[in-house]
Amino acid sequence: MVPESEPGKSTATEDHVFYPPPELRTDAHVPDLETYKTMYKKSVEKPEEFWSELAKEFYWKSSPTGKFLDYNFDVTKGKIYVKFMEGAITNICYNIIDRNITEKNLGDKIAYFWEGNDPNDCLRISYKDLLKHVCKCANVLKKLGVKKGDRVAVYLPMIPELLYTMLACARIGAVHSIVFAGFSAESLCDRILDSQCAYLITADGFFRGEKMVNLKQIADEALEKCRDKENFAVKACIVVKHLGTRLKKMNNCNQLQISWNSDTDLWWHDLMANAAEVCEPEWLSVEDPLFILYTSGSTGKPKGVLHTVGGYLLYTAATFKYVFNYQPDDIYWCTADIGWITGHSYITYGPLANGATSVMFEGIPVYPQVDRFWEIIEKYKVTTFYTAPTAIRMLMKYGEEPVKKHNLKSLKILGSVGEPINPEAWMWYYRFIGNSRCPIVDTFWQTETGGHVMTPLPAAFPLKPGSATLPFFGVVPALLNEHGEELLGEAEGYLVFSQPWPSLMRTIYGNHERFESTYFRKFPGFYVTGDGCRRDKDGYYWITGRIDDMLNVSGHLLSTAEVESALTEHLAVAEAAVVSRPHPVKGECLYCFVTLRDGHDLTDALTTELRAHVREKIGPIASPDFIQSAPGLPKTRSGKIMRRVLRQIARNERDLGDISTLADPSIVEVLFSQRCQAAA
Ligand code: WT7
Repeated sequence: MVPESEPGKSTATEDHVFYPPPELRTDAHVPDLETYKTMYKKSVEKPEEFWSELAKEFYWKSSPTGKFLDYNFDVTKGKIYVKFMEGAITNICYNIIDRNITEKNLGDKIAYFWEGNDPNDCLRISYKDLLKHVCKCANVLKKLGVKKGDRVAVYLPMIPELLYTMLACARIGAVHSIVFAGFSAESLCDRILDSQCAYLITADGFFRGEKMVNLKQIADEALEKCRDKENFAVKACIVVKHLGTRLKKMNNCNQLQISWNSDTDLWWHDLMANAAEVCEPEWLSVEDPLFILYTSGSTGKPKGVLHTVGGYLLYTAATFKYVFNYQPDDIYWCTADIGWITGHSYITYGPLANGATSVMFEGIPVYPQVDRFWEIIEKYKVTTFYTAPTAIRMLMKYGEEPVKKHNLKSLKILGSVGEPINPEAWMWYYRFIGNSRCPIVDTFWQTETGGHVMTPLPAAFPLKPGSATLPFFGVVPALLNEHGEELLGEAEGYLVFSQPWPSLMRTIYGNHERFESTYFRKFPGFYVTGDGCRRDKDGYYWITGRIDDMLNVSGHLLSTAEVESALTEHLAVAEAAVVSRPHPVKGECLYCFVTLRDGHDLTDALTTELRAHVREKIGPIASPDFIQSAPGLPKTRSGKIMRRVLRQIARNERDLGDISTLADPSIVEVLFSQRCQAAA
């Protein structure tokens, strides 16, 4: 499958292969390609056998009543559905906390080393501590009236209370809907309404580096915006005092002013003070919902991706174990935020399901110094480090000095997630962080897939920089052309999957029809990822990026439509079209064309205002880098904007292709001549 060529060249190419260090094979769960192939074959031919063996590691109060795996992927044959272990009863929180204490004797093991934004602000949370806090929180929620199936919106920074809340929801069968604390009031409001959340849990505020964020104020604005709307169901807002406590420590207690609504606001610490420390888990059906997590959709309205209890447990547990070759003494650190799927699956559920010790980090890579990541790796002797290409590219800019200040010898495995990793970043990561002895697992997956779907197994796979290599167990990829014909051998096409694995999303909350049309309508019989992909001569897969109107900014998806609709809400804007443009650190960034209403000019002040408007509507992640005034947009006679032309203009490339169908081809040259040279 992979050529036995010797590594040695310094530039990365498709033929440049890196082999796993032999010492990693000693206790590897999958020590070589042969073992992988045997296990893979079983996983796709006999999924029932494969997954039921893994299921033995967990507690099921009762066994499946029907087929172990039941699904339909073909829209022409009826409704799309996926069910694993139907009828079985369990509780994920019980499995990943209680059982580690009672069955595996890990009560005193550290579950999390929490490292705050400030280097001397840290905590150790053992499995026993975790259970206690989670149970208390679960009792608080129950007392407030939260019931099985209720949705709870969680808008918190990376603090332990975020873990406690999500796991407490899981314990009582409530459905958590975590909204990344970098999202705007408007985004939070949309998400609260879409799933009719009954409660909101937030914090007074937090520091991100030196910047103070008054989170409560944003949460208040969000509640204000949704209060009169039809779906509004929030009964109370629980507020964690986090920033207040930090400021007090710093003798800075006058700085934070938060408003308080005594009808609905409740302090977390008041509620927790008298809560009981024991809480019987709610026994749930494996196909009951575990959480909703919103991801961008190409229509602009975010999609509430729904994951269920049983399949998600099995798959996050299995991927964590195999992809990071998990060993009991490992110290694992994933730098993502729990507000994204990476944090759900690989800070909370996957590591806990394996009884692992993780680092949870509140801060940012460049505060107080640009060596913070390397300092933390040294401090906790991290063995497994999982981060995003955008972070690597940012840190590369500071050279090797900050890295060399630290002893990174504890590292065994490095990981990458969120977007294709460019070979330069891969090589830097490999050489300077891993000292050329740690495999990099380039994990391709999505909010929708719940866990890694294409990924190396570190002790078994020769690596090629930039390739996510081969499918994980149970995953069957195919490449299709525009007509839905399967492409074999070396080829490039739409990346699709032909059968489900346990943690594939089950639906879009409240909109099953959208679920079917987004992922299953285009090619009946397949789950469509929306990504392009190439298979090389060795059968390795290379993700080439999105082929829909989505773009990936710093490892997170945004839809051009949602940015366009934010822009056109501004009074000065008549029409907007947004495309992606490559960015040296973020991977991709936003390049916006705006047609202004009569009487408006794109002054610096207006540009600033438009950027601020988009940030306020969506969040800082959607901040446009380029805004160009466009007297007209390149449209076909039927009025469709030809985005590929705009992409060429944004990139200053002239591979325009056929533009004869444009209503007014002369606009193309006008736009070229006025393109933005520098970021706004
Ligand atoms: C999209 C999913 C997966 C968690 C974080 C993002 C891109 C993700 C890779 C990778 C190439 C990648 C894809 C995918 N992507 N990982 N290793 N190589 N592309 O989750 O926001 O749901 O985004 O991120 O385009 O479809 P998400």
